[in-house]
Amino acid sequence: MARSRLPLIAGNWKMNGLRADALALARGVADGVRLAGWKDREVLICPPATLLIAVAEAVAGSGVLCGGQNCHVGASGAHTGEISAEMLSDSGASHVIVGHSERRADCGETDAIVRAKAEAAWRAGLLPIVCIGETLAEREAGRTLGVLEAQLKGSVPTGATSAKLVVAYEPVWAIGTGKTPTVAEVAAAHAHIREVLTGLASDAGALRVLYGGSVKGSNAGELLSADNVDGALVGGASLKADEFLAIAKAA
Ligand code: 13P
Repeated sequence: MARSRLPLIAGNWKMNGLRADALALARGVADGVRLAGWKDREVLICPPATLLIAVAEAVAGSGVLCGGQNCHVGASGAHTGEISAEMLSDSGASHVIVGHSERRADCGETDAIVRAKAEAAWRAGLLPIVCIGETLAEREAGRTLGVLEAQLKGSVPTGATSAKLVVAYEPVWAIGTGKTPTVAEVAAAHAHIREVLTGLASDAGALRVLYGGSVKGSNAGELLSADNVDGALVGGASLKADEFLAIAKAA
């Protein structure tokens, strides 16, 4: 891992957590991060939007960052049930995940929508984490690198820089399955992502590219050691403070 890029360990809680358990989890992560006193990595948690304010308050002063899991493209208006990037920011978020494969699949989010959401994040002063990743069928058809390239070109807005964007590579078939690519496969995907980013960001060499998909304490060290991997986007394992902290420790 290039030390010029500050590793980011991000927890995506997805649609999990009611107030009591979520606050206990947030406090557990905050206590661990406070104790570790890391200056050489960032730790982010992305709770459901309903818990963002309470979680942000619970981790205040610990160094743990908070993010949203999605945002609307607009700032406000007649969009029942939607949440804007401005609202996330107002609730204590500094980051927002956009284009997660679950939203691309469940909500029909296209590259163009993801791109608009990343721009909405910028408008609100949030750092977007743009997710990309191939399906199993695409991998088996030998299309992985082409799919990643197309998603990047469609999803990354003009004007991207390392300070304004994080990319997360999450193979769809590795999410929640316990399956992961080999370290060599991760490195190949990340090398290609960085090459494509060279045409999309003015300082692509400094832009962080996270790996996500069945990351846990026991495999984090290996996966995070792959070239061009600058941290992890963690789902299931981010729901246990000890497990998530073990991943952060491995970074
Ligand atoms: P898992 O870590 O549960 O595989 O989920 C990864 C993910 O989708 C994070 O955004």
